Amino acid sequence: MQASNKSLVAVYPGSFDPVTNGHLDLIQRCAPLVDKLVVAVLKNAHKSPLFSLEERVAMLEGVLGGFDNVEVDAFDGLLVDYGRRKGAHLLLRGIRAVSDYEYELQMALMNRRLAPEIETMFMMAGEAYSFISSKLVKEVIGLGGNVSGLVPPSVEEKLRQRIPGQP
Ligand code: PNS
Repeated sequence: MQASNKSLVAVYPGSFDPVTNGHLDLIQRCAPLVDKLVVAVLKNAHKSPLFSLEERVAMLEGVLGGFDNVEVDAFDGLLVDYGRRKGAHLLLRGIRAVSDYEYELQMALMNRRLAPEIETMFMMAGEAYSFISSKLVKEVIGLGGNVSGLVPPSVEEKLRQRIPGQP
């Protein structure tokens, strides 16, 4: 087999509202496998995120400084159009539990139909992170629960400022 000299670009899309240690685990494990990993934050035209696009991007940049081949960016519109503009070969998504599978399958098949040349790659969440979601972290902190270890300390601080715990 001939060695390929094409540089492998993966896009990891998401809302990242905010980034969790589950997202970071995936980024850490994927970055060494590709030449470039673009973490792409959705502008969320229809959802109403807790953090603005600029805040979500800044939080990611704050925790991903140590990676040479990871870039943080924002996107709007169809993911596959964005992926094409970035020259992506792969779309990275994480699967935590069976409940993620149906939604992810639908998206992967739709994206494949729209852009057959871009492959969706799934990675299983690390077992220590498989119960973490941005949504639950926000709920727990809003009810006064402890979220340390679930998000980076800088993100926890931001969450505490934005959602003061009740008790
Ligand atoms: O972190 P999330 O909210 O689960 O990420 C969802 C995301 C950003 C991957 C998805 O909503 C998306 O790709 N949106 C862009 C619009 C698009 O391409 N829609 C068709 C997907 S099949």
